[in-house]
Amino acid sequence: MTEPLKPPGKVLLTEQQIQERITQLGQKITEDYADSAPLLVGVLKGAFIYMADLARAISLPVEFDFMAVSSYGNATKTSGVVRIVKDLDIDLTGRHVIVVEDIIDSGLTLNYLRKNLESRGPASLEICALLLRSGRQANELGLKYIGFEIPPDFVVGYGLDVAERYRNLPDLWSYEEE
Ligand code: IMP
Ligand code: MG
Repeated sequence: MTEPLKPPGKVLLTEQQIQERITQLGQKITEDYADSAPLLVGVLKGAFIYMADLARAISLPVEFDFMAVSSYGNATKTSGVVRIVKDLDIDLTGRHVIVVEDIIDSGLTLNYLRKNLESRGPASLEICALLLRSGRQANELGLKYIGFEIPPDFVVGYGLDVAERYRNLPDLWSYEEE
C-alpha cells in the first residue's frame, strides 16, 4: 500500500461538510429556477468536482458548459492577469446562466468573467461559488450563492490545486508550505 495523499497543512472543511452545504445550495437553486433549464458554466479546472456534485443536487434539466481562464501560474498568488484559455461552446443568448466557481479570492477573475459573459446577452447571470475568502464582501461582488467563507490561508483539495496537485482530495485543506 502507498501512503494516502496528504498535503502539508490541515483539513479546513470535511467531505461531509462540503456535501451538506452543496445539498442546500442545490435545493435553493432548484427553487429559484423552477420551470427553467439553467445553463451551468463551470470555470475550469478548479470547479470541475464542485460542479459535478452541485449539478446532482439540482432537480432541474440543467445544461453544462465549461470555460477556462488563467489568472494564476504555479505560484500561490495572483499574477493579476486574466485571459480566456478555453471559451464556451453554447450560445448564452436568452439563457439563465449560473457561473460555477471554486473560490473567489481577489474577485479579479469573477469581474472579468461577469463582464465578458454579460456582453453575450444572457437572460440572467448569477454566480455560485463554493468558497469566498474572508474579508471579501459577497454583496459587493454580487454573489448570489456562496458555500463557505474561509480564512486567508491558501487551500487545496476538492478541485483546488497547488501546481496541479491535490485536486482529487475529497476534503478541503489549508496548505502550509514546508
Ligand atoms: P481571484 O481572481 O483572485 O478571485 O482568484 C480566483 C482563482 O484563483 C480561483 O478560481 C482559483 O483558481 C485560484 N485560487 C485563488 N485562491 C486559491 C486557493 O487558495 N487555492 C487554489 N486556487 C486558488
Ligand atoms: Mg478557478
